[in-house]
Amino acid sequence: MAVIAVTRERRAGETRVAAVPETVKKLIASGFAVVVEAGAGAAASYPDADYAAAGATIAKTAKDALAKADILFKVRSPEAAEIAAIKAGTLVVATLNPYQDKAALAGLAKAKATAFAMEFVPRITRAQVMDVLSSQANLAGYRAVIEGAEAYGRAMPMMMTAAGTIAAAKVFIMGVGVAGLQAIATARRLGAVVTATDVRPATKEQVESLGAKFLAVEDEEFKNAQTAGGYAKEMSPEYQAKQAELVSSHIAKQDMVITTALIPGRPAPKLVSAAQVASMKPGSVIVDLAIEQGGNVVGAKLDEVAVTKNGVKILGVANLPGRIAADASALYARNLMAFAGLFLDKDGKFAPDYADEILAAALVTQGGKVVHPNLKA
Ligand code: NAI
Repeated sequence: MAVIAVTRERRAGETRVAAVPETVKKLIASGFAVVVEAGAGAAASYPDADYAAAGATIAKTAKDALAKADILFKVRSPEAAEIAAIKAGTLVVATLNPYQDKAALAGLAKAKATAFAMEFVPRITRAQVMDVLSSQANLAGYRAVIEGAEAYGRAMPMMMTAAGTIAAAKVFIMGVGVAGLQAIATARRLGAVVTATDVRPATKEQVESLGAKFLAVEDEEFKNAQTAGGYAKEMSPEYQAKQAELVSSHIAKQDMVITTALIPGRPAPKLVSAAQVASMKPGSVIVDLAIEQGGNVVGAKLDEVAVTKNGVKILGVANLPGRIAADASALYARNLMAFAGLFLDKDGKFAPDYADEILAAALVTQGGKVVHPNLKA
């Protein structure tokens, strides 16, 4: 019987956990054994007792948890001390941030781990249930609006009271992938007047179907901005200049700007300049969801609230899903549980089929080497 270890996240500020009692129970039912490091779920409000009740063994330390493990489930890549406890050939499943965190990748290769980067799971129908980017981005988009609303010194909805009328907040969402769409929906639920922009033409209809207004430079380049995989291309400097010009006067009128724009494998595009930030009213709020990939907003700082001279707050919140850790963990855990299903053959025996399209796409280290074509030096 294959053993799955779930260890505590050790990166600063990481509150999530890679398995929850519900998924532990289901993993055991499908033929795995599960060992959970004591306290692994505490920051996400999942106590050890609930894991034990679901059938997991509780191990005192990460080392104990890993001693007999065939598989390690993590949210983030394991840190050096955990990697040292991994046996050669252990399957490691995590969001490894493979383009940026080369050290973790090298460590996993050196430990001869067979590591899978969940970010590389292809966005095909069969893998939707394993799509951690979507499950976490959706919650990040929601949480970004909540954080923004908290920092905003005014109300979001229009209110007509005896003491006078409060105007609805104007919210502009830049980048409407999974996170941006949820940000639109959340801001709308709070009563804001919402506009949004993206470089992929397909987003126009999605934005409008959520009751928001779409704003973009709709030229020839825009018509071809979506890759076959559904992602955005890096836009030309000419397009970016036109885009900046179009959104400039718009940004000046907004109470809140939420940016989510990403390009896979590239630094986040800079969408909001210092001049645009300076054009906003005092008390306006910007939330930069792309901050961990370098940020979309000039002046945004990782894990800080930067307040500009003109009184605009720029929130560079790291790990937004970690601020909604119970739900983020539950969805992430289900993604990983579905992925682990690929390690079993049709009779339920532990026999990972590395020829499987999903496993092959996510495999990053094996046999002591970094094996993913996009990551080889
Ligand atoms: P992402 O996180 O890579 O990027 C966020 C958004 O930023 C994207 O909409 C992108 O077009 C936009 N962006 C990039 N550069 C920009 C710029 N210069 N200005 C404005 N916006 C810019 O995107 P995410 O959320 O991962 O979604 C990517 C695609 O994948 C979408 O088409 C989505 O519908 C699709 N998808 C497909 C799934 C499936 O299973 N088939 C599941 C989830 C998403």
